[in-house]
Amino acid sequence: TQLSGALADYDKGGYAHYLHREIRDQVEVVQRTLSGRLDLRFSTAHLGGLNLAPRDLLNTRRIKILGCGSAYYAGMAGAHMIEGLARLPVSAEPAAEFRYRNPVVEPETLYIVASQSGETFDTLAALREIRRKGGFVLGIVNSVGSTIAREVDGGIYMHAGPEVSVASTKAYTSMLTVFSLLALMLGRLRDVSPQRGSTLVAALQELPDKVGETLALEDSIAAIAPTLIKAHSAFFLGRTASYPVALEGAQKLKEISYIHAEAYPASELKHGPLALISSTTPCIVLLPDDELLTKSLTSLEEIRTRGAPIISLTDSNHPRIHELSDQLITLPAVSTLLQPIVAGIALQLLAYHCALLLERDIDQPRNLAKSVTVE
Ligand code: G6P
Repeated sequence: TQLSGALADYDKGGYAHYLHREIRDQVEVVQRTLSGRLDLRFSTAHLGGLNLAPRDLLNTRRIKILGCGSAYYAGMAGAHMIEGLARLPVSAEPAAEFRYRNPVVEPETLYIVASQSGETFDTLAALREIRRKGGFVLGIVNSVGSTIAREVDGGIYMHAGPEVSVASTKAYTSMLTVFSLLALMLGRLRDVSPQRGSTLVAALQELPDKVGETLALEDSIAAIAPTLIKAHSAFFLGRTASYPVALEGAQKLKEISYIHAEAYPASELKHGPLALISSTTPCIVLLPDDELLTKSLTSLEEIRTRGAPIISLTDSNHPRIHELSDQLITLPAVSTLLQPIVAGIALQLLAYHCALLLERDIDQPRNLAKSVTVE
């Protein structure tokens, strides 16, 4: 990869690929994204560039998040975070789909566009369409001074640092971190008590350490790759907030290893994909230790009956998970809000090690571009 200008000093940091460096950088990335933004006094997040008064935020009735690729999946995860804490309806949509369907733009809706580069054409076009119709748009952007950063009404910079590898890793994690801060802040304006707020602030303070613990699992995750690369197709399964994590995990595997993968909410298995589940379709199952765990165990049993190899990612020590899984990635225990962040990082490592074994062009996958600035 040829780098110029401000990126000239940014190298692979001793790793074989930018992607690997960018995955391994994520303790510092999360630290930078959080830096100066946790307000211990009021148990909330402080986000300086929103250009919105608390009253404007209270008048918000719903939130719409737009982005492309991994930014769209980050937006889906962010929608769960914000809806869960702020108790507002929040949805995410691919920016291009939104702009082509002549969207209804409402004054009580807060629009958010997410973009690492700040230059993605469809995201920019969606932003312009919303603003033209009188909507208020916040940006979650990494690239300082980019077109999207300049055109939004307010925003939050990610401070993830440069991302060179075409497939997004650290920028995706940083976006999720921003969404968790926004969810905390909006939650504390509404339903979330000071006590719960301070528990969440403490969880966010610990997040860099939890990211470090997840990265320390790299060798055990790499040990799973030889099984996965034999597959022609893999399924990524997760419920509610873990569904976007499954989508992004499948996306990473497709992008850099070229193994076909599909993501489904585990609850949808029996409505179609179960017909394809067999001993040749590994299933990567997200099993956070939450109130849906017992439901997810039922899905695990359905998959097991069809003989599919099961790779589980969990922070629970429920004995059934151990019994039903062929391979287990034990994630550090974190707040439910932050679970998608650590699970996402584990799936990045899994995709990387598959691509490495298959000797793919990891930093520049075929047919893909880092930034899609045309229609
Ligand atoms: C391209 C990249 C993806 C990225 C997407 C959105 O498709 O290959 O990795 O997620 O664009 O990019 P953005 O810069 O807007 O976040």
